[in-house]
Amino acid sequence: MHNQSENLYGKVALISGGAGAIGNATASKLAACGARVVIADLPGADGERIAFELRRQRLEVRACDLDLASEASVEAAIAFALRTYGRLDILDNNAAMKGLPDDRDVASMSADLWDNVMAVNARGTMLMCKHAVPAMIAAGGGSIINISSGTSLAGDVFQTAYAVSKGAINTLTRYVATQYGAQGVRCNALLVGSVLTPPMQRALPPPMRDVIEAHKLAGRLGQPQDIAEMVVFLASDRSAWITGQTWSVDGGFFAHSPTTPQFEALRA
Ligand SMILES: NC(=O)c1ccc[n+]([C@@H]2O[C@H](COP(=O)([O-])OP(=O)(O)OC[C@H]3O[C@@H](n4cnc5c(N)ncnc54)[C@H](O)[C@@H]3O)[C@@H](O)[C@H]2O)c1
Repeated sequence: MHNQSENLYGKVALISGGAGAIGNATASKLAACGARVVIADLPGADGERIAFELRRQRLEVRACDLDLASEASVEAAIAFALRTYGRLDILDNNAAMKGLPDDRDVASMSADLWDNVMAVNARGTMLMCKHAVPAMIAAGGGSIINISSGTSLAGDVFQTAYAVSKGAINTLTRYVATQYGAQGVRCNALLVGSVLTPPMQRALPPPMRDVIEAHKLAGRLGQPQDIAEMVVFLASDRSAWITGQTWSVDGGFFAHSPTTPQFEALRA
């Protein structure tokens, strides 16, 4: 069934990490809006099965292997999209190395862990842009959406490598937008807040969930669909005048003073 709210007919989208929780929801939404979609993910990540399920819903979705740590693999994924559908208009850089228990504070940081996270998240995202941009220019332009994280906006006591890699993606977004805007390529980043994916549900004990929820002006944690909606908007021509920006999609987590919930509780 096709959704008419955003018209992506004729467009081809490639989504890295498309077998993951947010990626899966986004692939489905992009295809429902008329795009032909390539899910690119690590071998064994279930991309083929997800693409098959979406094709059963009469959506046009294919899958290919991708390891962001390898430039040859990145090139092959872009080539797969071009070979399969003949063009590339939308790139959703959604894959990430995340949730590593050893990614803690700086003093305990393993240099190897740091290098691996940077290689996949920052360098991998750059390589995807590097190989997608010429294809987009050949197609008359395109839209790149980099999935960043609110962790890149404020300091914390853990996830240092992950958060810094997302900070690199924020800066990369502005550079790509600046370098290829005249050739019709837009680039935006989403600063995603806590989304209730299955691993997040398992990892987040109820008291911690309550603390996060108290900071969500929208009154709840996110759902993968919340991110998919914004990706589809930024992928569509309705956002033609929007580029080079980092958009918080986080239920208002970073829109208020950190002290507000506690002060409200004291006032009550
Ligand atoms: N879930 C959240 O609360 C949250 C919050 C902030 C940001 N984000 C961001 O949203 C995006 C999607 O996250 P998610 O929660 O759906 O996670 P997820 O783990 O379900 O999906 C991530 C996907 O990336 C893939 N991946 C990992 N390493 C890869 C590599 N080297 N090459 C190719 N693919 C690789 C994984 O196989 C997986 O399918 C990520 O960029 C993440 O940082 C998520």
